[in-house]
Amino acid sequence: MSTPASTKASTIRVDLAGRGYDIAIGPGLIDRAGELSRPLLAAPRVIVVSDQTVAPLYGARLAASFDKAGVRTTSITVPAGESSKEFGAFGRLMNELLDRRPDRKTTLVALGGGVVGDLAGFAAAVLLRGVDFIQVPTTLLAQVDSSVGGKTGINTRHGKNLVGAFYQPRLVLADTDVLDTLPKRELLAGYAEVAKYGLIDMPEFFAWCEKNGAAVLSGDAAKRTYAIEQSCLAKARIVAADERETTDLRALLNLGHTFGHALEAETGFGPDLLHGEAVGAGMAMAFDLSARLGLCPADDALRVRRHLGAVGLPVRLRSIGGDNRRQWDANRLIDHMRGDKKAEGGKLAFILTRGIGKTFVSREVDERTLRGLLDDAIAA
Ligand SMILES: NC(=O)c1ccc[n+]([C@@H]2O[C@H](COP(=O)([O-])OP(=O)(O)OC[C@H]3O[C@@H](n4cnc5c(N)ncnc54)[C@H](O)[C@@H]3O)[C@@H](O)[C@H]2O)c1
Ligand SMILES: [Zn+2]
Repeated sequence: MSTPASTKASTIRVDLAGRGYDIAIGPGLIDRAGELSRPLLAAPRVIVVSDQTVAPLYGARLAASFDKAGVRTTSITVPAGESSKEFGAFGRLMNELLDRRPDRKTTLVALGGGVVGDLAGFAAAVLLRGVDFIQVPTTLLAQVDSSVGGKTGINTRHGKNLVGAFYQPRLVLADTDVLDTLPKRELLAGYAEVAKYGLIDMPEFFAWCEKNGAAVLSGDAAKRTYAIEQSCLAKARIVAADERETTDLRALLNLGHTFGHALEAETGFGPDLLHGEAVGAGMAMAFDLSARLGLCPADDALRVRRHLGAVGLPVRLRSIGGDNRRQWDANRLIDHMRGDKKAEGGKLAFILTRGIGKTFVSREVDERTLRGLLDDAIAA
């Protein structure tokens, strides 16, 4: 797979009956947001929701672009980080939105990472029983994952994303330039989800990642655009076929997530381990488990571990958790897996694989094999 040389914006259509929308990907899109959104707006009024890190970086440029297109803009800034997805924070946002006297024709614009996208998307789903919204994702994770597919929501004390709605945006603008200000660690965490699409069912894209991943991460604009485009195409294809996760197809997007979720739960969903980092380690474990079960060639599992490690993701458990070396425990990790909302009727669901690009859902993994794998991963 070769990379096209152009760095022009490209557009991907997400096909959903009656609610299809475009994802534009490329440099400079924030400055074109007004012009690109204007034809889709029910009225020339938007409220931009952003966070305290992103708003000072890109808020003024976005507002200027809407202004130039004759769109009246106000903005609301929430604290950066997962705490803005708490119930209390959500309630405050709803009241602040209502303070701006929106009507059914007002459009919300989410400018930020997955936190702002999930929060503002859910706010749009319920504000006045539903107003339109546009996503301007600013993290790699948000550009390749959370802004595609229409899942929105907030957290509760019972777990993350347990209150929410399927609610599709009218447009997604993924400006690849904004990734230049993203901390390297956040960029890498998003990259794990990029590689994931190759591992799910696009082996030639994974091979492309092996060759070009380092360039994507170090800022090659054309390769960045290509990686985001392929990721969005992959997710859009899967979502269009299974919007509400009613079959096993959309579940494949959870490759690495059963393990990853357990690692995140054990590290308290905190700064010791970002979601994408957990997914990277989780994918390596899912391939190892598949190899151990005789399903997948050991060489493929090795390739996954090697590539994720080479770009700088923490694939070994002992490299997770900063200086204070963590005491992992297989039983506790299994308990966390059982608490995962994807565990149906107590049966653990794993995305396993017959090789790179050959994943499938399994609910048949016996606990002895799983425990053996975890014990070895902890000892490695
Ligand atoms: N809806 C979905 O389908 C879906 C899928 C995956 C993840 N998520 C959700 O996404 C959230 C995580 O998203 P995230 O990883 O983007 O985290 P995030 O939104 O917290 O962003 C990470 C950090 O980067 C900062 N940031 C964002 N863009 C920046 C930029 N361009 N330059 C500098 N700093 C920038 C943010 O302020 C924040 O501090 C989680 O809440 C998760 O549940 C949702
Ligand atoms: Zn994920």
